[in-house]
Amino acid sequence: MHSAPGDHAARRTDGAVRGAFAVLAGGRSRTRTGLDEVRRDWTRLGAEAPLWAVCVDPAKRDTGWDDEEFLASGRREVDAALRRLAEAGATPGSGRALDFGCGAGRLSNALAAHFDSVVGLDISAPMLAAARRLDRSGGRIEFRLHDSPDLGGFPDAGFDLVYCDLVLQHVPPALARGYLAEFARVVRPGGAVVVGVPDRERRTAKGLLFRYAPWPVIRLGQRLVLRYPAPMRMHPVPERDVRGVLAGHGAHVRTVEEYWAGDHWRHLRYFATVDAPSGPGAAP
Ligand SMILES: C[S@@+](CC[C@H](N)C(=O)[O-])C[C@H]1O[C@@H](n2cnc3c(N)ncnc32)[C@H](O)[C@@H]1O
Repeated sequence: MHSAPGDHAARRTDGAVRGAFAVLAGGRSRTRTGLDEVRRDWTRLGAEAPLWAVCVDPAKRDTGWDDEEFLASGRREVDAALRRLAEAGATPGSGRALDFGCGAGRLSNALAAHFDSVVGLDISAPMLAAARRLDRSGGRIEFRLHDSPDLGGFPDAGFDLVYCDLVLQHVPPALARGYLAEFARVVRPGGAVVVGVPDRERRTAKGLLFRYAPWPVIRLGQRLVLRYPAPMRMHPVPERDVRGVLAGHGAHVRTVEEYWAGDHWRHLRYFATVDAPSGPGAAP
């Protein structure tokens, strides 16, 4: 059934209001504290080992990533994701893309090959410094520090695509749900949202440890045993929550794929499109 454009706008506005109440209900100060912790930890990770912290590969811990190899991994991912979107019948356009939690710009650079301009947001200033060093776009990527539980600085419907991978599991779950709602809000009707986030731990020893051990124990283990420069939260977001929040804000998941099959989490990548207006008054 088609809905009129006015219905569409009203539904998204209702969704934004519901999202704001959810943040309030969860406690604004708790959200702020969570975000402060995320910023502090990722600032340290970005300062000490930016590329390793983006793609944690024990083999790269001491020798580090080669810059070109790192950027090539982003191209492989983004090219495949855009093909997947097209196969699902989505044609988001090629104007403006948002890379949320852009880290060292691995995916922003890859997106710049497909979009006229890219905005890369990250909460970690040293990550953004690494991203600016690796910028191969000829000035078409704007890297910006972003430290907020929402995308308040961005108007509705300003992007053709929002891309977010390897980010939402690193923030407290209430924040992750708020960002999902915001992704749907800032994408124009007909545009797309691509999000990669684990939906649950696997039943491996490490997966079970992460599921059942309290976060203070895990963070201590990451620091003392694994020698991480700073702790790295890992909170899966269940598939039904991702689908539900996106759908509640007008973005419908067209297809889902599983990736990184050998890891301790079930990683899912969601390909969603935002309803285009239809019915009386819609643009032809
Ligand atoms: C594992 S890295 C992934 C980077 C990039 N998405 C990629 O795949 O190459 C996670 C990034 O998310 C950023 N991040 C975490 N929480 C964030 C938040 N609330 N807002 C913006 N960036 C955030 C971190 O600083 C870090 O650079």
